[in-house]
Amino acid sequence: MTRRDTLPEQLTEEEAAAELAALAEEIAQADIAYHQNDAPEITDAEYDALRRRNTAIEALFPHLKRADSPSEATPGAAPAAGFAKSRHGTPMLSLDNAFAVADFEEFTRSIRRFLKLSEEEVLRFVAEPKIDGLSVNLTYEKGVFVRGATRGDGTVGEDITRNLETLPDLPRQLPAPFPEQIEIRGEVFMTKADFLAFHAEQTRLAEEREQRRERGEKVGPEIRIPANPRNAAAGSLRQLDPEVTARRPLKLFAYAQGASSTPVAETHWDYLQQLERWGFDVNPLSRRLPDENAAEDFQGELAEKRAGLDYDIDGVVYKLDRLDWQTRLGFVGRTPRWAIAWKFPAERATTELLRIDIQVGRTGALTPRAVMQPVNVGGVMVQHATLHNEDEIARKDVRIGDTVVLQRAGDVIPQIVSVVLEKRPEDSKPFEFPTTCPACGSHAVRPEGEVVRRCTGGLICPAQTVERLKHFVSRNALDIEGLGEENIIALHDAGLVKSPADIFRLHEHAATVRQWEGWGKGGKSSKKLDNLLAAIEARRNPPLERFIFALGIRRIGAQNAKLLARHYHSFANWRARMLAATTIGSEAREELGSIQGIGPAIATELAEFFAEARNRAALDDLASQVTPQDAESIGGSDSPFAGKVVVFTGTLEQSSRDEAEAIADRLGAKVTKSVSKKTDFVVVGADAGSKAKKAAELGVRTLTEAEWRQMALLD
Ligand code: IVH
Repeated sequence: MTRRDTLPEQLTEEEAAAELAALAEEIAQADIAYHQNDAPEITDAEYDALRRRNTAIEALFPHLKRADSPSEATPGAAPAAGFAKSRHGTPMLSLDNAFAVADFEEFTRSIRRFLKLSEEEVLRFVAEPKIDGLSVNLTYEKGVFVRGATRGDGTVGEDITRNLETLPDLPRQLPAPFPEQIEIRGEVFMTKADFLAFHAEQTRLAEEREQRRERGEKVGPEIRIPANPRNAAAGSLRQLDPEVTARRPLKLFAYAQGASSTPVAETHWDYLQQLERWGFDVNPLSRRLPDENAAEDFQGELAEKRAGLDYDIDGVVYKLDRLDWQTRLGFVGRTPRWAIAWKFPAERATTELLRIDIQVGRTGALTPRAVMQPVNVGGVMVQHATLHNEDEIARKDVRIGDTVVLQRAGDVIPQIVSVVLEKRPEDSKPFEFPTTCPACGSHAVRPEGEVVRRCTGGLICPAQTVERLKHFVSRNALDIEGLGEENIIALHDAGLVKSPADIFRLHEHAATVRQWEGWGKGGKSSKKLDNLLAAIEARRNPPLERFIFALGIRRIGAQNAKLLARHYHSFANWRARMLAATTIGSEAREELGSIQGIGPAIATELAEFFAEARNRAALDDLASQVTPQDAESIGGSDSPFAGKVVVFTGTLEQSSRDEAEAIADRLGAKVTKSVSKKTDFVVVGADAGSKAKKAAELGVRTLTEAEWRQMALLD
């Protein structure tokens, strides 16, 4: 990603235009990588930063907004595989914007000019709230809903019929009379309340997914957290599975016509009445204005109502009422001459930044949060705003004591747009992002290429304790029955279990716990504690691999724990070698990084864990309570490959080369890439090249794939 250090407000017009062009391309490319290739090239945070930057620049230079603006194209609007294309009967257009009375006056003047109307002629308009959702084109044949499509590029959209059919607001059958064939257009959206609930749910799911990923478990596709109701509606409509769409709370207001086999009405107002008779919801705040002068008042009225509405609107659309005039006026480019969107000013406010709190998530992620002097932004009191991550703070150079400009993005989630530099206190200093965890004091690290800084004190950090304990006792870890989340929380909050080792000291508190409601009092529950204590005792000698997995070290899932256990055999040896591996470049670090399946990045995570003294203390405390069993390599030490140096070359038929190498590793072999005098075996597959030759030259024993499989006891 290019570095963008200049604040949007410091850009010249020319720079802004160039950057909007660059952003459009970068975002489109990221969309393709993410949605079409399922191979994101940038992180979600980087992606969001690009979009935010684009929005910020567009807000400052609205006239520079591009036809291919990423803020118009819905995120993920790249045609996802699985949707057929659908050509609209007449193009779906966009609207010109007005920002002030003068713009609106210019709009009415141009109508008069074009139609050669005198000043006396009354121009009647229909005013409709402009909802920021997703426009759709609905085709009805003989009164039956047959097809629904997204706007797409305006000419061709995506066929999302099945998804639209799940909308409760969408009439499937129009009551007669109706034209033989008609296209009806409207906006699909999510209410603010529904969005907030959905946002919270997605955040929770993403958090859970991250935890599963950290435990090395399989995870489903990335969970997108929508930034605003519009994104949420767009994402919901573009689901490949209509059942998912059906569960999302989507609403529809109809407001425009597309192609129609016979005319429906003479005025737009009458057309809206007809839509209602057909069963569509038409925005109840829509009004037919007596003349053009009524627009300004209407704009003011709606601006006042705006904050209290349960959906976001970003302006008012004014449409000339007479359809014969609309037809005569036609279009310029992609916008009609007969309609305009008069936008509200962005809801902004300035206030003082009191402090920046660092919150520690359940997985140890450090997230900055701005705490401000409470201020009213467009009818909503705002006191907190997310600052996303440390790069964002640095980029905006947000400092404590600064006066900041706040904006509610998508009118819901507050953001800090910029700093009012003139009001910056003289003694202010750039914000220093902490490198230790505010919850536990452990060092917090930020792996190269990642935006998030994380606490390394997994075993001792109070912000993470409950999650870690849950993981520690889970099925693939120590598998202690009777310690569900509820019980862990109860024991944790009572101060009895704060670390994994405490679990094995629980028996010391048996008398206390027995006093608790549901834990020992009364007949039925009296066995509960006994059973739990027995389950704990049964786990004092866990297999080493389960023990390592249970520690919940980042990226050490069950599979990697197994690799470590087999490689290091005993707990004492593993501990000693991990400690040695904390030194970068040490022989122990090299060894760790070269274990098949581990690699340098995971080696770094392990080293970070062991570098934290408190983790070592917690580990040793635990080891004073439990004694992990030594691990054996598969096939035992009597495999002919144990302790041997093996090279694979050429194409294998029965398995991939990766798999064969992993098997050899498990058998205790050291797998290398090049043949030397130290090599014991070279397994030669089809089309082997120079390595096979070299083996022959050096007199190293070569094996065919069949021989290898036989000796490895695979066949
Ligand atoms: S009329 C030719 N009416 O605004 C007129 N659009 O910038 C085409 N929108 O893509 C649209 N509320 O998504 C119209 N009452 C309304 C609208 C509305 C929201 C959106 C729609 C369209 C965009 C145009």
